[in-house]
Amino acid sequence: MNIEEIRTVGVVGAGSMGTGIIQVAAQSGFEVKAVDVDEAACARAAKAIAKVLERLVAKEKITADQMKEALGRISFSTDVNTLKDVPFIFEAVFEAVAVKKEFFAKLDAVAWDDTVYATNTSSISITEMASLVKRPAKFVGMHFFNPVPVMKLVEVIPALQTERATTDLALAMAKKLGKTAIICKDTPGFVVNRLLVPYMLDAVRLLEAGVASAEDIDTAMKLGTGMPMGPFELMDYTGVEISYYVGEIFHDYTKEARFAPPGLLRNMVKAGYLGRKTGKGFYDYPAK
Ligand code: 3HC
Repeated sequence: MNIEEIRTVGVVGAGSMGTGIIQVAAQSGFEVKAVDVDEAACARAAKAIAKVLERLVAKEKITADQMKEALGRISFSTDVNTLKDVPFIFEAVFEAVAVKKEFFAKLDAVAWDDTVYATNTSSISITEMASLVKRPAKFVGMHFFNPVPVMKLVEVIPALQTERATTDLALAMAKKLGKTAIICKDTPGFVVNRLLVPYMLDAVRLLEAGVASAEDIDTAMKLGTGMPMGPFELMDYTGVEISYYVGEIFHDYTKEARFAPPGLLRNMVKAGYLGRKTGKGFYDYPAK
């Protein structure tokens, strides 16, 4: 199968990453069959995509027709059977092996022999996940970044079992979606999170030690290194719990102390201070 033969893609999981992938795939001309077990998540994703595209129309980045066409290419369902004849499926479900395993078992029951599964996991071994599916040679990691429509990078991660043709197709898919891909071995954190997660955890350690305030650390990194967001703004944006859980998983894999989440992060997760989405993280976000 080559990229030109692919007209339809599936996206499993309509959280923030899945929603971004759905939008980008539809804007890139694919018919998109999106599946989430939660009907409310499907409704939220549909609303979020419509809102972002409307904003792009208002800014004259796309035309009203392009918006209509992109929205018309997307369908949502809670039924995995809708992915029956789909040749390329992105997986962006909750980051827990048990949840992913359940989804892949359902997909395996309906998918084609040639269907490629591309997982967006940021923390689970691609090789371990490939070992859960019927056709591990067709399994590959494609790690996107938040917000997916804006961030240009995709890390392509072959599992030990991935055949070269699958990796090549993932690279071609990334290009078709307007992204720049890098290839990376299946190691904890791949490239970006391997560097980014210890950096964010170290920022929390600086805060715990009273070296500087969250605001000043953010200002330092923005103005001192040109980053678009400081570490605390970024954790609030992506979800404080993501840094915590990802740190825990990497620490489990590697036993390296730099990945161990600091106590403050753990307590914030326990308190439900997860960032923008809960109205409170390292900063407060009063309801509009
Ligand atoms: N969809 C489409 N476009 C979007 C968007 C979305 N969801 N969110 C923002 N944009 C667009 C805006 O329309 C705007 O476009 P324009 O410049 O053409 O008008 C542009 O992005 C900038 O947005 P804003 O003006 O609203 O805000 P900012 O200039 O503050 O940029 C940001 C926001 C793009 C999030 C920027 O702050 C940024 O790049 N932050 C760093 C994000 C980052 O590091 N992400 C990686 C996180 S790690 C990760 O994802 C790994 C995973 O495993 C957790």
